[in-house]
Amino acid sequence: MYDNFEELRENCLNCRKCELCETRHNVVVGVGNTSARVMFIGEGPGENEDLQGEPFVGRGGKLLDKMLNAVDLDRHENIYIANIVKCRPPHNRDPKPEEQELCLDWLRNQVKLIRPKIIVCLGRISAQKLIKPDLIITKEHGMFFRKGNVLMMPMFHPAAILRNPNQKPAAFDDFLKLREKIEEICPEVYGKN
Ligand code: URA
Repeated sequence: MYDNFEELRENCLNCRKCELCETRHNVVVGVGNTSARVMFIGEGPGENEDLQGEPFVGRGGKLLDKMLNAVDLDRHENIYIANIVKCRPPHNRDPKPEEQELCLDWLRNQVKLIRPKIIVCLGRISAQKLIKPDLIITKEHGMFFRKGNVLMMPMFHPAAILRNPNQKPAAFDDFLKLREKIEEICPEVYGKN
């Protein structure tokens, strides 16, 4: 465990714990405010993220930014975004369980340093890994699950919304629920106290 973010970042950028390091262009550590009360956690970098070294910068990322901005959240201001695995799985295959397990130490360290009040899991892989293995995203999206001092909320993955635009209203509804919860438990996110 590292006790400051710069050290964590530098070591994560040099990680060779699993075979994904052989094919990556960049390690995608995360983006945002390292004191954020709200974290978003996706699955793993895709092609654009691998090339740019930042999470959610492709088409799905543009949609995510739009939905975030609709509830006054911004990836560079009041949230932090990371992924379960920090390196792109070749051909966008699902990250293997052992890759997830090895990489999870980085995320655990990030969560420990950031100390968020709310963690939003983007998509099934993230929600099943971080909330519960049998989570059904189509049924349980938008619900809050308490884990210690943190409230965890599964949401549809932006790429899934792009594939199924009929999920858009439900996805937007989840963002409104998120805003309500932020106003209730950590209004400082919106500069209110
Ligand atoms: N999908 C993810 O889960 N994470 C990213 O960073 C990009 C796409």
